[in-house]
Amino acid sequence: MKPFSVDQVRLDFPILEQKIGGKQLVYFDNAATTQKPKVVIDALNNYYRYENANIHRGIHYLSEQATLAYENARKVVKDYINAPQEKEIIFVRGVTEGINLLANGFGSVLKPQDEILITALEHHANIVPWQIIATKTGATLKVIPISKKGEILWDKIEESFSEKTKLLSCVHISNAIGTVVAVEKLSKVAKKYGVPMIVDGAQSVAHLPIDVEKIGCDFYLFSAHKVLGPTGIGVLWGKEEWLEKFPPYQGGGDMIEKVSFNKTTYKEIPAKFEAGTPHIAGGIGLSNALIYFGKLDFKGMMEHEDKLLKYATKSLMEISDIKIWGQAKEKSCILNFSIEGIHAYDVSSYLDSQGIAVRTGLHCAEPLMDFLGTGATTRASLAFYNTFDEIDRLKDALKKTIVLFK
Ligand code: ALA
Repeated sequence: MKPFSVDQVRLDFPILEQKIGGKQLVYFDNAATTQKPKVVIDALNNYYRYENANIHRGIHYLSEQATLAYENARKVVKDYINAPQEKEIIFVRGVTEGINLLANGFGSVLKPQDEILITALEHHANIVPWQIIATKTGATLKVIPISKKGEILWDKIEESFSEKTKLLSCVHISNAIGTVVAVEKLSKVAKKYGVPMIVDGAQSVAHLPIDVEKIGCDFYLFSAHKVLGPTGIGVLWGKEEWLEKFPPYQGGGDMIEKVSFNKTTYKEIPAKFEAGTPHIAGGIGLSNALIYFGKLDFKGMMEHEDKLLKYATKSLMEISDIKIWGQAKEKSCILNFSIEGIHAYDVSSYLDSQGIAVRTGLHCAEPLMDFLGTGATTRASLAFYNTFDEIDRLKDALKKTIVLFK
């Protein structure tokens, strides 16, 4: 394996060569979606150009090839996250759909006195589906508290659990402030109380090695587009014993065994949860993304990201008007900040005029931003293909923003 080289990997991402408004693109919106390497773009192009057919249905060459490629993607995912069984890999639209599927599943067993546990770090996708299901079942949504730095209050963690706790759903890396949650430690507490644990891996899948057995969770979810793959497809891994218990989430073709007007029986997992024609090209794109990513020197890549984050944090802290939100000790590639007296939309618009792409707003984590005591902020989220020069460009542009708007 070749040692990690940022110059080398950048050659794999054609979009990074682009100029935006005459300025070289600096892409710092990786938590929203990652860019795609050429192998993924080519795989999608090839599929539609030469291989397109529906799967699981046709007795013809193209259909059989497409079925093989799609089912191979399930195996690639299984190996990538070290899941015990291929049939436990359910393809969904993304983490949001996956959590809704789980909320529907748990909704079939939750009772009015039960509690659903999440953390104060969650994205709306790991809050709202549980609120909907709590309303339907009469269960209560409970929140594990955090500090102002954005860290779970570990010394109080057991206070959140009781015999009423029926499930824990928690984020692995906060999309808003970058906190890395010690999910292995949390799963030990959940196990002690006999509580099944869901891990939202939307942000962790592109920054940490993922081993669901090591984490000790019952469910892990990620979206392909956050790990170099296409939008519109994601993964829900769940333990067979749970998936077997849950009712189908959607009805339709491909998930049935036998249908009559009186009664329908369903296929085994994963088909039970995959009604309708799936995102076939998406599955193929995802497997190519994971194969590409899996070939990188992961340790070298993580070291590069860590250095980038430290350098970016230091650079921004040198600008006196900037406040950084979220200072967890274990933090991943996210810098969420405000400039005193300048609205986040003005900051981001000026950065955009300099070719720098960042995200603005509440980052789909309104309760977290409220708790931290801020409204809209600017978020620069880094990836392994970002460089120190790009951070210098951000720093210079922020200094100019201050001169311009103050
Ligand atoms: N969840 C994505 C983000 O954090 C869209 O930007």
